[in-house]
Amino acid sequence: MKININNKEYLVDVANNPSLLEVLRDQLDFTGTKYGCGEGACGACKVLVNENPTPACITPVTSVAGKKVTTIEGLEVNGELHAVQKILLEEDVFQCSYCAPGMILSAVALLKKRPNANEKELIDGLNGNICRCCTYPAIINALKKLSQ
Ligand code: FES
Repeated sequence: MKININNKEYLVDVANNPSLLEVLRDQLDFTGTKYGCGEGACGACKVLVNENPTPACITPVTSVAGKKVTTIEGLEVNGELHAVQKILLEEDVFQCSYCAPGMILSAVALLKKRPNANEKELIDGLNGNICRCCTYPAIINALKKLSQ
């Protein structure tokens, strides 16, 4: 089947009904999307499906037919990082960064829906993204600079 990743069509093998994460990483080499729990609980594998943060590990690839998938690789436009990526880098928030792709995509979707999100809305919006280094306060403080 064909799927749309970062505004480009890809022909992928759906034999054995792979997850979206398996297809992204193993067939298309979009390795920015990370494998964490494999159960839809940690957010490391989140991508945007029609602009909604979605755990790719529990999403059958067949379910994204006709939809637009955005991975972390798709945020950069003409060599420019997204504003969320820039502020998180400028504020030096991450430690190991394993959660970063999923966290960033969730923040992008949240701020698109609620550009003036307050602290509580930011915390609630990123609730499904776990950071093992516990950099939550730094992430929220950085995002507040974009939302105020
Ligand atoms: Fe998909 Fe944890 S790896 S939510």
